[in-house]
Amino acid sequence: MFKAETVWDFSTPSKIKFGEEAILELSEEAKMFGASRILFLTDEGVRKAGIVDEVVETLDKDLEYEIYDRVEPEPSLNVFEDALEALRRFKPEILVAIGGGSSIDVAKAVNVIYKHGGEVLDYIAPPTGKGKRVPGKGLPIIAVPTTSGTGSEVSPVSVVSIPDKEIKVGISSRYMRPDIALVDPLLTVSLPPAPTASSGMDALSHAIEAYTTRRYERKAKASAMTRPDYNGGNPITDLYAKKAIELIAESLRRAYNNGEDLEARKKMALASLLAGIAFTNAGLGATHAIGMVVGGRYHSAHGVTMAIILPAVMEFNASSNPKRFAEIAELMGIKTEGLDVLEVAKKSAEAVRELSKDVNIPRGLSELGVREEDIPELAELVIERQQRLLVGNPRRVEKKDVEEIIVNCL
Ligand SMILES: [Fe+2]
Repeated sequence: MFKAETVWDFSTPSKIKFGEEAILELSEEAKMFGASRILFLTDEGVRKAGIVDEVVETLDKDLEYEIYDRVEPEPSLNVFEDALEALRRFKPEILVAIGGGSSIDVAKAVNVIYKHGGEVLDYIAPPTGKGKRVPGKGLPIIAVPTTSGTGSEVSPVSVVSIPDKEIKVGISSRYMRPDIALVDPLLTVSLPPAPTASSGMDALSHAIEAYTTRRYERKAKASAMTRPDYNGGNPITDLYAKKAIELIAESLRRAYNNGEDLEARKKMALASLLAGIAFTNAGLGATHAIGMVVGGRYHSAHGVTMAIILPAVMEFNASSNPKRFAEIAELMGIKTEGLDVLEVAKKSAEAVRELSKDVNIPRGLSELGVREEDIPELAELVIERQQRLLVGNPRRVEKKDVEEIIVNCL
C-alpha cells in the first residue's frame, strides 16, 4: 500500500557564504579545511572573462594551486576522465569549482572517483550505468557560481551527457553536495544577457517545480536509506521557493537589460541559491523530466529548454493544486481582482510566458529543432527514463500527457 511520507529532512551545504567580495575569503576557507593545495576547476569562457585570474590573485601566497580549465558545457564522460587526470597529477587537498553548473558538476563526480575508485559509469543509474552507491565523502569542495540559475552549488547531483545515446543522466549522493557554496554576486556581473536569461529561467523552473511538487509516497515504513533525496516539499522549501519566485519576477528583466545593475544581480544570485536549496530537497517535476530528454537529444541550453516547457507543464498541473499556482501568479504580479482561484492559477503560466518573452527566450521547441514526428519517441523516453523526476509532479503523467505538453510548446 502507498502511504504519504510522514518524515522529511532538509539538507544544505555545511556553509553558505553570500555577498559582494565574499570571494576574498576563499584562502581562509580553504585553510579551515587544513588544505594548502587547491585545484580550480573551470571552463574556458569563465577563464577568458578574467574571473579565475581575479580569484587567484586574492589567494594567500602560501597556497599552491593549479587551474584546470577544460570543462565543457554539457560535459560528457571524456571531460570527466580528463579532469580526473588533473586531480591525479596535482594531488590537491581541496577542489574549488568556479563556473556555471558544468564545472561544479564535474568537480563533484571526479571527486568521487578520485577518492573511491571506479569510473563515472559505475555510479550512474541503470540501464546506462551500474547504479553503485557513492560510498562516502571525497575532498572538500568549495563551489563558486558565476551564473545565477543551476543551483549546482548546493545540489548533490552531477549531470553527465552521454552523446552516443543522446541522453543526460545524473549521479546523486548526499556525499557529493559541496561543503561550501560561496556566492559572490560580483562574479555574475560580466555574464552576457542570453545566459543571464536562460540561467534565470532555470532558477524560476526550480522554484516553481519545488513549490508544487507532490510528496513522496513510500511503500513501507519510513527509512532514511530508501527515502529519495527528492522527497517532496516541506515548510522550509516552501519558504525558499516562494521567495525565489518573487525575487526572479522583480529582478530578472533588470539583470537581463543591464548586467551592471548590481541590486538585480544580487537578487538573482540569492534567488538561484534559494531555488537550488528548495528543489534539491523537494524535488522537481515534469518540466525537468521532459526538458532533460529534449536537452539530451537536441543539445539545447538547459535553461532555455526549461523556460519553454515550464508554462505548458504549469497549465497541465494548475488544476491539481489551484491554490499554489494562484500564489505563484500573485508572486509574479498577476492582477487577481474578481477572479476565482482556478482562473488565477491558470494565469501563472501566462506570467512565465511574459517573462520569457521579455528576456528573449525562443518561443517554442521547434526553434530548438524539435519536429512533430519526433514527439512519440521523446515521450517514450521521458516515461522510460525520467520516473525519478516524474514521481514528484503534482499530477500523474502518462505518455499521452507528455505528447500533449510537447505539442503545446512546439
Ligand atoms: Fe534545472
